[in-house]
Amino acid sequence: TMFQPVLDAGPPDHSARRVSKVTVVGVGNVGMACAQTIITQDLADQIALVDISANKLRGEMLDLQHAAAFLPRADIVADTDYAITAHSDICIVTAGARQREGESRLALVERNVSFFKQIIPELVKYSPNAILLIISNPVDALTFVAWKLSGFPSNRVIGSGTNLDSSRFRWLMANRLQVNAHNVHGYIVGEHGDTSVPLWSSVNVGGVPMIQFLQDKGILVEKDTLEELHRMVVDGAYEVIKLKGYTSWAIGYSAASLVKSLLRDQRRIHPVSVCAKGFHGIEDEVFLSLPAELGRSGIIGILNIPLTEEETQKLQASAKALAEIQRKLDI
Ligand code: NAD
Ligand code: LAC
Repeated sequence: TMFQPVLDAGPPDHSARRVSKVTVVGVGNVGMACAQTIITQDLADQIALVDISANKLRGEMLDLQHAAAFLPRADIVADTDYAITAHSDICIVTAGARQREGESRLALVERNVSFFKQIIPELVKYSPNAILLIISNPVDALTFVAWKLSGFPSNRVIGSGTNLDSSRFRWLMANRLQVNAHNVHGYIVGEHGDTSVPLWSSVNVGGVPMIQFLQDKGILVEKDTLEELHRMVVDGAYEVIKLKGYTSWAIGYSAASLVKSLLRDQRRIHPVSVCAKGFHGIEDEVFLSLPAELGRSGIIGILNIPLTEEETQKLQASAKALAEIQRKLDI
């Protein structure tokens, strides 16, 4: 062999090091964008890929492995058998049908619920202590489904939710203000999709409350302008799907950002899909996005963010729409 142990060391003890492992189910556009971003950012020691297509799995695995000389080291495995996912810290689910042009996310629900009935029990069997990170659409309803099917506590079942919508929002604002998106703070909450709610009252730029600032300067804040910007956030995904057929890069980076907060116990706040019962007057056991603190145990807590009367009403309407979808699910 090329290497020999030093005099008194004995064979290497690989069990001594805690290995971080992330599973990605579904190696389509989104799954591969997630895997690639996680590997590039050196977030996991092991990546397990699962899909129903054995050829696609092996092709994607080899293609990534061939980049080994250019990437941080990661052990990449792929199989149709969930045994390879054993002892994952995080299981990301991106499998399933995606929207065709003009189709709403909610139209996918029945097809994807049937996939989840196969997928979630397998993940639970091999990684009973994992955090489930759901991405497949409609993500809020499917996060609820994953919670029910897994039997996990709700702090370990998270939907990527409006972490992505909020980035679209911050990017649009940053563009208008000619400032870095990192300095525009603001959340889109509620459904990931058509009934999402922008929290204008708490938007701040570099710590300065934006609406208050404009009002103090005597600058008229037109309701139409705000609504148009939110419309652009909602339409953003439809536009990308129309242009390139699917969305992938932004959700890949959104997922990697969540994985980083979770695995590295970063305690950053992300708007993600959580069980919202008891927050802002929501009475249903409904999953939708609220700003949540994320760390190694999953969801550490939900931020008590003050909402205006109008924001509360819109959030409750989003919750009602989602509860209606959840009620019809066959699980
Ligand atoms: P895709 O068609 O490229 O990939 C889907 C993959 O899932 C395929 O490789 C397919 O073989 C696999 N698959 C299907 N059934 C499976 C099963 N039972 N078990 C394992 N694998 C299975 O689709 P995509 O563009 O990657 O999108 C995937 C999902 O992600 C869609 O539901 C899409 O709407 C959603 N999405 C969500 C967000 C978000 O922000 N939450 C963003 C983008 C896309
Ligand atoms: C998105 C997907 C389609 O990019 O949900 O928003």
